[in-house]
Amino acid sequence: MRKLIVANYKMNGDSALYTSIVKKLNKIKMLDTSVVLCPPFVYLDLFRLKNKKISLGVQDISNQINHKSTGQISPHMLNEFSVKYSIVGHSERRALGENDDLINQKVKLCIESDIVPIICVGENEKDENVDLIQNQVSSAISKVKRSSKIILAYEPVWAIGTGEIPSVEYINKQVSLVRKLLKKKRFNDFLILYGGSVDEDNYANLLGADIDGFLLGGVSLRLDEFLKIVKGVDNA
Ligand code: 13P
Repeated sequence: MRKLIVANYKMNGDSALYTSIVKKLNKIKMLDTSVVLCPPFVYLDLFRLKNKKISLGVQDISNQINHKSTGQISPHMLNEFSVKYSIVGHSERRALGENDDLINQKVKLCIESDIVPIICVGENEKDENVDLIQNQVSSAISKVKRSSKIILAYEPVWAIGTGEIPSVEYINKQVSLVRKLLKKKRFNDFLILYGGSVDEDNYANLLGADIDGFLLGGVSLRLDEFLKIVKGVDNA
């Protein structure tokens, strides 16, 4: 089964680490799995990817193309670096005040710019009201053409970086809400990922959930473990 693995390096690493990651990943072979690497913006130029199965992504994108946007990175600049994906609405950015409206603007700008949005949704607390996720998804894709390619990453905030993992049943319950909503809105080119404390010990079990791959955080920086997960997913 075709799977996607996205590495979110967050605000970690340095040139030496990313140079070695790129060197190693350029050589790996995968059959049915694709990988997207999302480094911090300042290291984009180190990611000269020569492996057809690996693409470049970023962790955030501007919501506008107005040049008077100090500190922002425009889609045009990302296109120049062959960036094909952007994480949008990660909970760590929502915590800084990014709201559903801003996330929707970013999603629309990604699509207009040939960048596939990886839209993060997830509840803060375990067993929190499920309406939250449906509202996050609906508003993120509001007025987005249903023919657009999009990726949804279900990342329960309580599982991010905590080592606490939802059961496969729990993930399926949340993911089925997302899937139903996207089908109701007649989107048909979408993938759903799971993210939150995935590691080499739990990924195989998590693959039993109704998901199309993973959004990985901390483990992306541990290259050997990351490679084991990529190979394991590819062989599953
Ligand atoms: P961890 O895998 O470190 O829990 O992070 C998940 C995440 O936030 C990926 O976007």
